[in-house]
Amino acid sequence: MTRLVSIDGVILRPEEARVSVYDRGFLYGDSVFETIRTYGGEPFALDEHLARLERSAERIAIALPIPRDELGREVRALIRASAEAGAAAPLESYIRVMLTRGSGPLGLDPALAGAPLRVILVEPLKPLPGALYRDGISVITTRTQRAGDAAPGAKISNYLESLLALREARAAGAHEALILDPSGHVVEGTTSNVFLVERRPPAHEGAEDPGYLLITPPKEAGILVGITRANVIDVAGELGMPVCCEPVTMSRLLAAEEVFITSSLREIVPVVRVDAHPIGAGAPGPRTRALHAAFREKVGLGKAHLPWEAP
Ligand SMILES: Cc1ncc(COP(=O)(O)O)c(C=O)c1O
Repeated sequence: MTRLVSIDGVILRPEEARVSVYDRGFLYGDSVFETIRTYGGEPFALDEHLARLERSAERIAIALPIPRDELGREVRALIRASAEAGAAAPLESYIRVMLTRGSGPLGLDPALAGAPLRVILVEPLKPLPGALYRDGISVITTRTQRAGDAAPGAKISNYLESLLALREARAAGAHEALILDPSGHVVEGTTSNVFLVERRPPAHEGAEDPGYLLITPPKEAGILVGITRANVIDVAGELGMPVCCEPVTMSRLLAAEEVFITSSLREIVPVVRVDAHPIGAGAPGPRTRALHAAFREKVGLGKAHLPWEAP
């Protein structure tokens, strides 16, 4: 597998790929994107990702220049070409699909743009080290005014606020930053959704034990509605764990039994410290593990090679 690029349907080596300096994605962040990975060489949830790309584009009034299924064929063609061009190792791919408003004369007015430009990048996926799944990660919390507020829920390309939040996390030795909205509610990670496992007390003495609940901030919180999030909600249902989409305050977050983040590239990563406060027992919890194992089955990996058993 090797790195390859597709620009408007033409497959190129990265060193041959050219995008105009007048492209509005470059000039104004006037673009949307998706991040996808393969399992067994197949792009996972490709239709869902391309549907979200189309919805994101609609939110900022960019029309897909080709039908969605044709874009899907371009993604698959690039994955195939990249596998054929490289060594035989059956590595998984990391895919980024971008759509910009295109290029045109300088000026903010979107009417100045020519035709939208589509760019697909494929490269070998580098899985997270097993230790992060085994031991869990630390996160910080940070309040930001997000650029995405102009089009909540859309995956627009301007991630500057998130990038700076992640920089702050890394400077504090943490893996991820959880974003708080102006009222202090936990929204999501810089590139992930967040879940809490809570134990609910019985309604009254002698009542049935309600067991564990999975909590995640609702769509209305301004999150990017993650495709991994949706799959985790599905597998929780299969495991008989109720899920509530509810606002999450800081005190609720810190009181959770277990916390984890989800994203396409990282799947499910246990969070064991928030701003240096331990979560639950300070180690990845059994509910997070069970959900992750069920998620791996759902994506066709079975029980072999669980990420927390990897080097
Ligand atoms: C802001 C944000 N939230 C959540 C996610 C997780 O989404 P998905 O599970 O679709 O990868 C991402 C992924 O990049 C993201 O950027």
